[in-house]
Amino acid sequence: MSFVITTPLYYVNDKPHLGSIYTTLICDSIARFKRLSGDNVIFITGVDEHGLKIQRTASNKGVDPQSHCDEISDIFKQNWKSWDITNNKFVRTSSQNHESIVNEFYNRVKASGDIYMGVQKGWYCVGCEEFKENPENLSSYKCPIHQKNLEWKNEENLFFRLSKYQSQIEELINEPSFIYPKERRNEIINFVSKGLKDFSVSRTNVSWGISVPDTKDHTFYVWFDALLGYVSAICPNMSDPSLESSINNGWPADIHFIGKDILRFHAVYWPAMLLSAGMDVPKRVFGHGFLTREGQKMGKSLGNVLDPNLLLSKYGKEAVRWYLLKDISLGSDGDFQNKRFVDIINNDLANTIGNLLNRTSSMSRKWFDNKVPDTYELIIDNTLQLCCNEAVEKFINHFNLYELDLAANVILNLAINTNLYLNEKQPWKLIKDENNISIVCNIIYDVLESTRIIGLLLLPILPDLSSKINMQLGSLYNKNESWNDQLNWGLLKSKSNLPAPYPIIEKLEYE
Ligand code: MSP
Repeated sequence: MSFVITTPLYYVNDKPHLGSIYTTLICDSIARFKRLSGDNVIFITGVDEHGLKIQRTASNKGVDPQSHCDEISDIFKQNWKSWDITNNKFVRTSSQNHESIVNEFYNRVKASGDIYMGVQKGWYCVGCEEFKENPENLSSYKCPIHQKNLEWKNEENLFFRLSKYQSQIEELINEPSFIYPKERRNEIINFVSKGLKDFSVSRTNVSWGISVPDTKDHTFYVWFDALLGYVSAICPNMSDPSLESSINNGWPADIHFIGKDILRFHAVYWPAMLLSAGMDVPKRVFGHGFLTREGQKMGKSLGNVLDPNLLLSKYGKEAVRWYLLKDISLGSDGDFQNKRFVDIINNDLANTIGNLLNRTSSMSRKWFDNKVPDTYELIIDNTLQLCCNEAVEKFINHFNLYELDLAANVILNLAINTNLYLNEKQPWKLIKDENNISIVCNIIYDVLESTRIIGLLLLPILPDLSSKINMQLGSLYNKNESWNDQLNWGLLKSKSNLPAPYPIIEKLEYE
């Protein structure tokens, strides 16, 4: 089965911050999970390079917009490499092939009779690249997200007949599977119920954009252009891009992962544009929460960003991935706090999972000649087997519902329960009596097997730690066999060698 997943296309007004890393890590983890589950994944990310915000950023730097975009887009690519992001596509909206897709799409929308010339007046936030409704309700005409002054605009623009799609959009957003999480659906239903207004899709005062065919001095509104990046990314043949080839190669997207601030664009404007062009709408849109720092949205424009590369070099990607994916429920906001970060990594990864592996493999190596013990069928205690089977089922269900935090907690709980089992059984006491050897073999085998399953379950979330765990058990994930099958109980080979141990995760220090 094919599965198309997208991150938003990030503005290149600055290098990535932890908020952008957050969305990308979520998508990466889901893409990894889907691949492990046997799907043919197209994982799209990229950059949104046009518009007033980027034009101004380049001009403030005193460079031409294209060079600015080249520089920042390279930084994004480099970042995704250092975070081991497994995207198959990286789209740039300043590329030639993207421009062809935008033009072809626009011609289809125009042919549907959905474009007309009008006058756009209103208060605009350059940070959001969006007109704000009811600005009189905003404190001193400031954008609540960017805390910057809104700007008055009054110009001739081309409009898209969004209002024509009122009933189709209502039907779509009422589909329970379309907007996730469900709390966000109500916001959109409420917005649409007020009546959809046509919106402007061109600008006359922005030179840094794709020129609208046959319309002098107009460039496309950056959102009209950027949303189409998802379609151009899928295009298999970059030298001959066309909507048809994107459609044949996997469009529509199975899921767009985006922050809650841009849900309207993805769940309302975008589907209407696609309907107008005779294309399928995305199957699902997930609006995740914001990452905050000390309670305030982290953002480039707000100047309170955490440098992800600093976190990466200081703590490593596994620690950051675990914190962001396990500690924050996808739909909700999550606050980044240094102390909590250090505590979680030390408790979950070092003390619980790392320690489980260390102590069990040390006991096994010491008592069974550096090997996994042999098992004895006479003794029947299937406690851990049942725990593992249940954990695997729950983990897969949570992942399929995009409940990544709950999935991660399933692994953690399995490790906690396995540690408890070991503490209860106290094999270090039993081993003192030779008559207990078969019982000890079974206990240690079961605990090692449970640890192997913990390692395998970690694969989509913490790929490096997962390999380290399974390497130490001498039982690496086999790429040529199904991951699901390898999650079955009892596959750790009795009497196989246990490699020499080394620390799989370092404890973190408070700053
Ligand atoms: N360029 C548009 C998206 C176009 S998609 C066709 C855009 N870019 S952005 O760089 O400003 O934001 C990209 C994403 O990052 C958005 O989903 C936004 O919600 C998300 N985030 C920005 N700051 C964030 C946090 N502090 N926390 C989590 N996500 C954040 O919007």
